[in-house]
Amino acid sequence: MPLIRLAYASDATFEAQPLEQGVEPHVARILMASRRNNGKVNIVGGLYYGDNRFFQYLEGDESAVRETYERIQQDSRHHNVRTLIEEPLKDRTFTNWSMKYVPASGDVKAFLERNQLSEFNPQAFDSSQCEEMIGLIRRSSQDQKLVNHGETTRMASQPPQTLSSGLKVGLVVAAVGLVVALAVAATLL
Ligand SMILES: Cc1cc2nc3c(=O)[nH]c(=O)nc-3n(C[C@H](O)[C@H](O)[C@H](O)COP(=O)(O)O)c2cc1C
Repeated sequence: MPLIRLAYASDATFEAQPLEQGVEPHVARILMASRRNNGKVNIVGGLYYGDNRFFQYLEGDESAVRETYERIQQDSRHHNVRTLIEEPLKDRTFTNWSMKYVPASGDVKAFLERNQLSEFNPQAFDSSQCEEMIGLIRRSSQDQKLVNHGETTRMASQPPQTLSSGLKVGLVVAAVGLVVALAVAATLL
């Protein structure tokens, strides 16, 4: 089965809402559907959302990528979808991620500064800027705890840790000291 890779830019049609667990809520829903569907057909890639615009990179079997892209293009949560890259791919370049999400990180800001771009406007990216973005997405696996919505939710439901470990050690030492002091006092009585 021939492989292809595809990148596009689009403009979000929704108004950005406050972040929930580090992700804009519309984007979180898109990511959940993407991970569910892309994993099944072995498509990998990444999504960047910034300045109310999207940049998405997909790679996988040609038919699966094309079918998915058809569906994505029909989605009313974005418009002005512009294909930036669509070409055959010899070998897969992403491993074990159905759809990474890249938050607005220092890496992206540095990329914009390096390219003297005042805002994130992927519609205007040239091919080397596209490749730079794809590299950035590929390298962003360490962000998974921030962006895996299910995992973040589980983490958030754990009881909050209110005492620092230094404070805990201090309290234990104070308690032991108190017990020793009481024992010494008892022997003196
Ligand atoms: C910017 C953007 C990126 C999307 N990326 C994907 C994707 O990679 N895979 C996918 O299955 N759906 C993606 N979607 C969602 C699809 O348009 C569609 O809502 C979804 O595939 C429907 O899946 P469901 O029938 O399982 O709910 C994306 C939507 C938007 C707006």
